[in-house]
Formats: sequence, structure tokens, C-alpha cells
Amino acid sequence: MASESRIRTTLGPFTLENPFILASGPPTATADQIRHAFDAGWAGAVIKTIRPDEMVITDVSPRFSAWKDRDSTLLGFENIELLSKKSVSYWLIEISKLRREFPDKLLIASIMAGADPAEWQDLALKIQSAGAHAIELNFSCPHGMPERGLGAAIGQQADLVRELTTHVKKITTIPLIVKLTPNVTDIIPIAQAAIKGGTDMISAINTIQCLIGIDLDTFFPIPSVGGYSTYGGYSGPAVKPVGLRVVSQIAQAGSTPVIGIGGISSWNDATEYILAGASAVQVCSAVMWRGYGIIRELTTGLSEYLEEKGLSGPDVIRGKALSQITSHETLNRNIRGVPFVNQDTCTKCGTCVISCRDGGYQAIRMTNKGVAIDQERCDNCSLCSLVCPSKSITMISIRMDRQGAKS
Ligand SMILES: Cc1cc2nc3c(=O)[nH]c(=O)nc-3n(C[C@H](O)[C@H](O)[C@H](O)COP(=O)(O)O)c2cc1C
Ligand code: SF4
Ligand code: SF4
Repeated sequence: MASESRIRTTLGPFTLENPFILASGPPTATADQIRHAFDAGWAGAVIKTIRPDEMVITDVSPRFSAWKDRDSTLLGFENIELLSKKSVSYWLIEISKLRREFPDKLLIASIMAGADPAEWQDLALKIQSAGAHAIELNFSCPHGMPERGLGAAIGQQADLVRELTTHVKKITTIPLIVKLTPNVTDIIPIAQAAIKGGTDMISAINTIQCLIGIDLDTFFPIPSVGGYSTYGGYSGPAVKPVGLRVVSQIAQAGSTPVIGIGGISSWNDATEYILAGASAVQVCSAVMWRGYGIIRELTTGLSEYLEEKGLSGPDVIRGKALSQITSHETLNRNIRGVPFVNQDTCTKCGTCVISCRDGGYQAIRMTNKGVAIDQERCDNCSLCSLVCPSKSITMISIRMDRQGAKS
């Protein structure tokens, strides 16, 4: 059994028992839920976004929809949920209690206030005096709140991000985290604005604006609230590639610690975020789907992986993939992947033949002896290896000489 101390993680000024933090959302909607999560082994939690009591929010129903695999595995999740339904005074009392009951867990309060910076300052000061370790500024919710000029409407404007961050930073002493939206053309100026404003950390991503589907019988967009819907926030496994891209871009642009969020449902996903530059990760949809208990497979998996690789902890692999992300122009044109078929495991299903014929370079034939690849026609695109259901096609990397011959 791998050692638990191996997954101890540094996140800015904090040392965490593991890199797994619950993201702001339904799993952190009440203090009792956070208690269960801490008991289960989560290293930290970001409270469901707290708003001033004067900011009225009323949730609609239904407010979720899911894109699932045939076996009900979650692929993507849409929500049009708003902020915490609990009052500020509820959270101030519960933050103090949670800090006393769980002194070693990281407690972060996500906040959102109105257009007046004084409202953000007031809420931040209250949260700080209740004892939260850090404050996460929600500049990133893509539904409902942007209609009021808040959430992603702030996170899409570098000037606003810098100004609001500065306002909160100048009156608080605990670390600030700015949570960014991926719904922007270029994340770097936005991240730089947060850093200029004085943020201590950046978390990304919040959900991606989406329309998950349309009912073919009623023609109603989904989730349908009496026949109507609105653009929502997309999360879950489908968004991981976007999260990884955003986190790696922020990490490449500076040294401010980044918390990676988006589509994490396994230790492997989390490890990829760490390799892309994240100091720790946050998880929401996977917990909504499978419960707090997934923390056991997350911590065990990461711990065993590090031990097998002889690595002392997540900190030593942070950002290790970043130097390998480069421009398209500089990618080596002299390396080719050559498809190799394992005839012993091939079931002769013909999927690769069809894909290569219609989406590739017409290089595969089915013969009496099995699948045959014409290497002269093959353009080394790798599609066949991706579609093969029995993983019988492997791409073998070959270096070409300058004339293009395989060597
Ligand atoms: C139902 C739901 C409610 C959410 N509410 C909040 C919120 O109140 N504040 C916030 O910052 N993010 C909120 N999020 C976004 C998550 O914290 C997270 O950034 C996003 O879901 C991507 O992570 P995931 O793929 O692990 O879910 C919510 C997400 C979901 C699915
Ligand atoms: S790598 Fe592409 S072109 Fe070559 S056989 Fe496979 S699908 Fe066809
Ligand atoms: S897709 Fe895979 S299993 Fe099917 S014929 Fe091609 S190599 Fe064989």
C-alpha cells in the first residue's frame, strides 16, 4: 500500500494532505455536506458561491441535464443553477465551526457580490473574520449572473477583473483566488489582469457556456423549464481538454499557483492537470455523479502512481509537460506514426477499413488473412488506431530521413 504522505501537496502558502479539493457547487451547498466530504478524505472544499442577502436568487426546475454513455457513465453535464441559497450569517457561523472541527482541512469561500466593489469588500471582510483560509472570487458563472453584469460578464473583461481583484485584495489579508471563465477568446490577458490586481492564485475553469440538447418531440431546448431554456454551463469529462488547455496556458504565462478544474473524475485526470501546471485540483460533477467516496480511488491511484514512478510527490511533477507544448510550426515533420495491426487480437470487424476509406486515405483492406495496410497509401493520420474497438492497431513512431524515406 502506497504511503499517504506521498500525496501531500503545496498550494501557494498551504500544505494539503492531498491535491483534491471540492469545487464550489452542489457538493458544497451546506456545511454538513462539507463535513461528510472532509470525513471522507477531501483535503479541502470551496463553499458554493456566497452572495449578499440582498442579492435575490431563485433557482429554476429542472436546472440540470446530462449527456451519458450507454452504461450511464457521465460524459457531459449542463447546469443553469445559481448561487448559494444559504444566508451570509449561516455561512459565517458555519465557517467558524468548520475551521474548529477540521483544523487541517482547507476551507475556501467562493463569493460574488453586486456591481459596487464595496459590496465585494464587505462580504470578503466578513468571510475573512469568520476564519476562511482563502476567498475565491467567482468571475466566471456563465448563466443567469452575466445578465446582471456579474459572473462571466466580469471574467470576460480584463479591466473589471483587475479592478475588482485590487479592491478586494487591498482590504483582505487572507489569500485570494480568482476563478476564471473559459468563455473568452484569450485567457492570458484575463489571467494577467487578475495577477496585476494582486490575486494569490488562479482557479480555472468554471463551466463552458452551452446548449446541451433539443427535445425532438417537443422541439423544446433542454433543460426545459416549461418549454423554455437558457444557455447553461457545461462540465464533466467532456470539458477536461478545455480545462487542461486553459490551465497550461495560465501556468506558462507566469508563476502564480493555479488550481485546475474541469472534467476531473479519476486520479489520471488530476495528474494530467498537475503535469499541465496545476498545484491542486477541484472536482464537482464527478462527485455529483458518484459521491464523495471517489476520493479513495483518487488518493490511492495517485499515491500508487507516484510510488511506481519513484516520485516523491505531486509537487515534483507540477508543470512537467509544459515545456513540451509548443507552436504547430515547430512540431517535427520528420516523425511519422506507422500503424501496426495485431492480427491475434483483431476481430475483423472492419471498422478501421471504413474509417480509413471514408475519413482517411483508403489504405486498409480486409483480406482472407485479416487486415492489410498499404503503407504507401497510408498518410499516418492515426485514425484507424483510434477507432479500433479491440485496440489492435498501434502507431509505431518512426523517424524519416530528409528525403522522406522511413529509417
Ligand atoms: C450544478 C453546478 C453548480 C455550480 N455552482 C457553482 C458555483 O456556485 N460557483 C462556482 O464558482 N462554480 C460553480 N460550478 C462550477 C464548478 O465549480 C466547476 O468549475 C465546473 O463544474 C467544472 O468542474 P467539473 O467538471 O469537475 O464539474 C457549478 C457546477 C455545477 C455542475
Ligand atoms: S493511419 Fe490513417 S491513413 Fe494510415 S491506415 Fe490508419 S487511418 Fe489509414
Ligand atoms: S478495427 Fe480493429 S478489430 Fe476491427 S478490423 Fe480493424 S484492426 Fe481489426
